[in-house]
Amino acid sequence: MQTDFNRDMKIGVTDSGVGGLTVVKELMRVLPNESIVYYGDNRNCPYGNKDKTTLLALAGGMIRTLNEHSRLKLAALACNTTSTFADDLRPSFEFPVISVIEPAVSATAKTNAESVGVLATCFTANSGCYDRMINNLLPKCRVTAVGSKNLAALIDTGNLDSDEIPEEISTCMSDFVKQDISQVILACTHYPIVQGIFEQMYPSIKFINPAEKQAEAVKEYLEKNDLCSSSKAPTFEIFTTGEAQIYIDMCSRLGIRQPDAIHTL
Ligand code: DGL
Repeated sequence: MQTDFNRDMKIGVTDSGVGGLTVVKELMRVLPNESIVYYGDNRNCPYGNKDKTTLLALAGGMIRTLNEHSRLKLAALACNTTSTFADDLRPSFEFPVISVIEPAVSATAKTNAESVGVLATCFTANSGCYDRMINNLLPKCRVTAVGSKNLAALIDTGNLDSDEIPEEISTCMSDFVKQDISQVILACTHYPIVQGIFEQMYPSIKFINPAEKQAEAVKEYLEKNDLCSSSKAPTFEIFTTGEAQIYIDMCSRLGIRQPDAIHTL
């Protein structure tokens, strides 16, 4: 383990696109003094329909690019799809790689739920990762995971008024409704961007946004290791393989401050 980490180093946040901004929002809330560098790989979105070999290369590449730009003290995988294989990524880096899934699972287990729905990408749903991890902690909990092929990509266009979004949500939610499931984890970081639409369509279902739990896990790690920044002028930079304007619009929509710089790759 590298020993020269310091408080002024940055937190790297990665996703296939704008979804990880839901994690940035929570990080800025619980750790307002931290500088953040974000990588959104919009050109390759959706990740959820790709294979693991491709995804491992893309996910590792994003973290390496951020670390070359500004040395990281921690990387947060703000992507459930790549978090399913966080253990495969961790040995490549000297700093911790924090998954979005583990903190969400621990929080869900504390509710002692009898059943829970997991709405994810196809890759995450097919990996069985949430099912396994929840059942490790709550063996009797009935976990139903559903994957959407389209929802992340629809949200990633930034056109959140599209009728296709509620149509896709209604298709994905039908299994949960049939089974009378009352708690659904929004297990793709793009989905909480339209959490309002979910809540409007299904007012009796509780939707869980894993971003909050991941931000708390990051805070806990930094505090334990005496790595919290006390900067009065934290920076926020974005690297993207997509369009800068989508980030400008999405930051406004999520109530996140505008980035100091957007680098298009
Ligand atoms: N936002 C990502 C996730 O949490 C990936 C969405 C995608 O590109 O398919 O899974």
